Amino acid sequence: MSTLENILTRIDGRVGVVQINRPKAMNALNGPTMSEIMSALEAFDADPAVGAMVITGDERAFAAGADIKQMATASVVEMMNSPFIGYWDRLRAISKPVIAAVNGWCLGGGNELAMACDMIVAGEGARFGQPEINLGVIPGAGGTQRLTRAVGKTIAMEMILNARQLSAEEALRYGLVNRVVPVERCLGEAVRLAEEIAARAPFAIRIAKEAVNAAFETALAEGVSLERRLFSLLFSTEDQKEGMAAFIEKRKAEWKGK
Ligand code: HXC
Repeated sequence: MSTLENILTRIDGRVGVVQINRPKAMNALNGPTMSEIMSALEAFDADPAVGAMVITGDERAFAAGADIKQMATASVVEMMNSPFIGYWDRLRAISKPVIAAVNGWCLGGGNELAMACDMIVAGEGARFGQPEINLGVIPGAGGTQRLTRAVGKTIAMEMILNARQLSAEEALRYGLVNRVVPVERCLGEAVRLAEEIAARAPFAIRIAKEAVNAAFETALAEGVSLERRLFSLLFSTEDQKEGMAAFIEKRKAEWKGK
């Protein structure tokens, strides 16, 4: 376990875990915290011992949003010039799967952080929301786009225009999260899921993530054509030969990541 000022990190099997650790501020995300989170994820992404990652908070809050005290007096030029919002974009460039394990408050920039991950495991008491309208602003780190893609226009409108919060069960029903588990099992379940994915063919996992993400960026014909190229590309890997041979020989495949 390594301790930085605002996060804790550890490697659990083949899973890199980042825990946001600003309990006194409900894990509000200020510049130093986002910088530490992204540096840790980028280090895990570059580490061959890590196959997938989990980001979590604590039982009270995944993260209660961007740090309002840090932003309160900012000017438009300061916000435009600040690297702050760019931290959320850096998550998009992580090539290995990232799972958010969410307990408690998951609000504003915290919900945008969870949504920028690839999957979300929620604890039973989790509350998801984009309450920026109460501060006289709107989501600024992808919330209007990712939430709308995740839950659809009408629920996103209600959450963003009227600060409606979703319970964990509602978030599951609307497709924002993958599964809901008891609070104390949330992190363990996310790590277990990450461990399962990390045990699969690593290069194919990376390509699969790229292909699914392309569905949000491209027209259907372009996405299907990209998929076909990526699918064919995998026939140049040893893992494809191994995976198909193992099926035919009725044995377990041994992945090399090559
Ligand atoms: C800074 C925060 C904070 C935040 C909580 N705290 N959220 N500090 N920024 N986003 C601090 C409080 O000031 C307080 O510290 C301590 O955490 C405990 O919070 P309380 O409010 O006393 O706790 P509680 O009554 O249990 O209420 C919990 C809460 C509430 C419902 C989560 O704190 C809340 O509504 N927080 C703000 C949520 C929000 O509006 N998020 C969106 C932020 S804007 P002190 O020291 O004062 O006692 C955003 C835009 C992103 O995210 C844009 C892209 C970057």
